[in-house]
Amino acid sequence: MRCTQFLLCISVAVALSNVAHAADEKVNFDDHVLPILRAKCGTCHSAGEAKGGLVLESFTAAMAGGASGAVIEPGELEDSRLWLLVTHKEQPQMPPKEKLPDETLAVIKKWIDGGALENKTSVPKAKKPRANMAIQEVTGDKPEGPPAMPEGIWADPLVLSARGNAVTALATSPWAPLAAVAGHQQVLLYDLQDFTLAGVLPFPEGTVNVLRFSRNGSLLMAAGGRGGQSGKAIVFDVKTGKRVAEVGAEFDAVLAADISPNHRFIALGGPKKLVRVYSTQDGELQFELKKHTDWITSIEFSPDGVLLATGDRSNGLFVWEADTGREFYNLTGHTGTITGVSWRADGNLLASISEDTTAKQWEMTNGSQVKNWGTHGGGGASIQFLRDGRMVTTGRDQVTKLWDQNAAQQRAFPAFGDLGLKVAYNEPTGLVLGGDWAGRVRVWNAADGVERSLLVTNPAALAVRLEEATKAQAAADAVAAQAAAQVAAQEKALADKKTAAVTAAKAYTDGDAAAKAAEAAKVEADKAVVAKTEAMKAADAALVAANAALDKAKADKEAAEKAEDKKDVPAATEAFVNAEKAAVAAKAAAEKATADKAAADKAAVDAAAKAKATLDQAAALKVASDKATAEAVPTPEIQKALADAMAAAKAAADVAAAKKALVAKLTLQKAIPAPQLPQQVATP
Ligand code: HEC
Repeated sequence: MRCTQFLLCISVAVALSNVAHAADEKVNFDDHVLPILRAKCGTCHSAGEAKGGLVLESFTAAMAGGASGAVIEPGELEDSRLWLLVTHKEQPQMPPKEKLPDETLAVIKKWIDGGALENKTSVPKAKKPRANMAIQEVTGDKPEGPPAMPEGIWADPLVLSARGNAVTALATSPWAPLAAVAGHQQVLLYDLQDFTLAGVLPFPEGTVNVLRFSRNGSLLMAAGGRGGQSGKAIVFDVKTGKRVAEVGAEFDAVLAADISPNHRFIALGGPKKLVRVYSTQDGELQFELKKHTDWITSIEFSPDGVLLATGDRSNGLFVWEADTGREFYNLTGHTGTITGVSWRADGNLLASISEDTTAKQWEMTNGSQVKNWGTHGGGGASIQFLRDGRMVTTGRDQVTKLWDQNAAQQRAFPAFGDLGLKVAYNEPTGLVLGGDWAGRVRVWNAADGVERSLLVTNPAALAVRLEEATKAQAAADAVAAQAAAQVAAQEKALADKKTAAVTAAKAYTDGDAAAKAAEAAKVEADKAVVAKTEAMKAADAALVAANAALDKAKADKEAAEKAEDKKDVPAATEAFVNAEKAAVAAKAAAEKATADKAAADKAAVDAAAKAKATLDQAAALKVASDKATAEAVPTPEIQKALADAMAAAKAAADVAAAKKALVAKLTLQKAIPAPQLPQQVATP
């Protein structure tokens, strides 16, 4: 393993070496455990005493258990009552008085973990499945309840490597947005909604060559091993990530395998040319199919579990009765390695793909070939039926293709840049996944061919992903904040314009009132001019009359003085004096009236000037107000700018929220306890 994170590597290496160590030592009952039991428990758990109905004097008696049944479950520490009692995890504590020393407990632990062997020549039995996984009735319908997704399981790669391994196995859940990808000694579960790691399942057994979700999506089978050494199929519970069964103790890596739709059987094969069918219940071999003459390369149970299709490295392709192993059809026609088989959902058609560059379809009534078409130059590598009868394939031409029900090409996705190895289609998301030799899994929409994501076989450590996501979140938050600020600025600018329009309108109203007042004042002033003009005319006339009267009085006085008797002189003189006074008064009055008129004229001119000025001002204010009002109305451009800014802000906020959710998810994942690495049972 190539390690970029030193500590993690150490821990994995140590964990793996512990496993090897335990297997080497082979702690057994007779040599290691019996002496402990004799010394510590014998007084109460012998044939004579048998407290709690339990005798611990011999292997057979110990395995038989006590009053409450078996007390030792080989390989299942936490299910072994004896272990729970001696570690005081449950009552009654054993031995009743003092707890056994840690070293002694360690021996018992190793013994149970190692399969509770009787003596040094014993061989461990295959593990009993922890749950009864069998389902009674197999249907192709969507299982009830939410489809199985990993629920808070470990999602930190156990092995880190700088380069990705070839995509040797790839599978998608039939019902959940979930993909399983072969990593380096681990299975990577990718959430196909956000394309993040949803789980990492350890596979210290070696290379993962096969991944298969069970037909109801609750289980994931991983098979593989080490070439020329060992092979196995492990069944994981998708929700919990726990191993629920393991079968096969092959002497070579498993290259092809499938789990039956009812979860009862696993068929597997590899370089030994045998197809073996195991029971998942007890790990027992049910039967072997010996007809193949070359490595077994592909295996798939029919959707109803009745038939089993198997293909080999030459061109052998068979269909068997899954229950009995009786040959059903020998499908001849391919001329190269069968690289993949897939059943149509109704089970009536089997598709096969081969390095001979063709794919073929076979009907199951007579076993005849009903379609044969060229798929990938250089050879096809993988095929999967969609539920609607279309197919996806990939191959050595580096291209992943989607075919319609009549095997006409619907779409070719952009080439990988390396050999295509595995293909899968995820029904719930409508995504096509293609895996290549370089360790990349490209994810496309089947509908429009858009590439959605790129998954890798060597994901970074959780801490690194968390750090990257945190940075990305900060950046997204900043962008979102900026976009929001832009919206706010746009909105503020509009609001400011509205305020300005209101102010301008008020100014215009005021100005208009002033203009009207000035106009009224001007009318009054004009009236005053008219009045004063009349008054002046009257005063002038009075003056003329007064002067005439004066002239007459003067003449009268002169006449009186010229007269003999002079008797009228006093009276005429008095009249003349009076007339003189009246003329002076009339003159003064006329002068005042003239001055008053001049003043009125001036006031009228002023009022006119003021009226004109205020009117002009009001007109100007009206123009300004109209302009401001027009500007305050959101024009299409302003509306568009605002809408654009809002859309950008929403998009940015969505991205920021998604990033935040991702950070939260990764933070949660960080708190999940590490998975227990499987105890590897020595192969016989
Ligand atoms: C002093 C006597 C005594 C000693 C020593 C003793 N036990 Fe027990 N053990 C009992 C008794 C009494 C019971 C039954 C208790 C009950 O059922 O409540 C019992 C019950 C058990 C049971 C449960 C059996 C069943 O079927 O439920 C286990 C397991 C067990 N003992 C293991 C051990 C082991 C292992 C040791 C030694 C490391 C040990 N005991 C030492 C007295 C003893």
